[in-house]
Amino acid sequence: MTAPTPGPAPRVGVLGAGVMGSGIAQVTALAGCPTTCVDPDPDARARGAELVVSGRFGLDRAVERGRITRTDADAAVARLAFADDLAAAAAADIVIEAVPERLDLKIRVFRDLDHLAPAATILASNTSGFPIQAIAAATDRPELVIGWHWASPAPVMRMAEIVRTPVTADATVEAVTALARRCDKNPIVVNDTDTSWGFVANRVYFAMIREAQRVVAEGVASREDVDQLMVDCFRWPAGPFGMVRGAGSGWS
Ligand SMILES: NC(=O)c1ccc[n+]([C@@H]2O[C@H](COP(=O)([O-])OP(=O)(O)OC[C@H]3O[C@@H](n4cnc5c(N)ncnc54)[C@H](O)[C@@H]3O)[C@@H](O)[C@H]2O)c1
Repeated sequence: MTAPTPGPAPRVGVLGAGVMGSGIAQVTALAGCPTTCVDPDPDARARGAELVVSGRFGLDRAVERGRITRTDADAAVARLAFADDLAAAAAADIVIEAVPERLDLKIRVFRDLDHLAPAATILASNTSGFPIQAIAAATDRPELVIGWHWASPAPVMRMAEIVRTPVTADATVEAVTALARRCDKNPIVVNDTDTSWGFVANRVYFAMIREAQRVVAEGVASREDVDQLMVDCFRWPAGPFGMVRGAGSGWS
């Protein structure tokens, strides 16, 4: 971890305790933010809490690897609560939504959050690619709505693709990039668009996946050989098909 960011740590709410939400909550708690992670599914909450402590990318493993101290890990666990009530996550300075990738669900969740959260609370979505302006339009605070696209596994990957709409306030962008830096991520601010699915990382990634699928469909090479060629050629950690498998499983 880099040196801690000065200033008070914001209170963070995370929606969804799945692959992404539990990892995001782990990161913000470790960064010093009191964090509440909400999921209506008790099994998801139990699994998420277990991943944070003893998962492959969890706190225990980070201690074993010497990346953090046992004191850091224990303090992060003490800062992190799991709950079933949306209001518990809404009572925060910044809420990060990581519910399943369905636009109708995200719109409903943002509408509810808008009613429950204090007027100054920033609402961020970890959508993989829905236009942030479509989500912001569900609220009466579009200037406080922003995209914060994380990569999996959240505790490891440094990507923070920060997506601003034409009406996102500069102060919102500043607060979220500051939190991303506090979390030891590398924030890059990009512009939202309502004409395509995906921001930068996923548009480029899926163009590569589409071409890899065409190569296989044309009988040029097998999936395994495409993967091996790309690893050998570009030193990628996995080939295109391996990346799709890894992203789907949280690299577990
Ligand atoms: N998995 C990835 O590699 C990845 C990477 C970047 C972004 N994303 C995005 O992150 C989001 C979450 O993906 P995931 O892979 O963690 O999904 P997931 O299915 O693992 O977890 C989603 C969780 O949200 C919970 N949930 C459903 N409705 C809810 C509600 N109203 N309030 C709170 N929680 C609710 C579910 O019970 C589930 O536990 C999606 O938008 C996805 O596109 C995923």
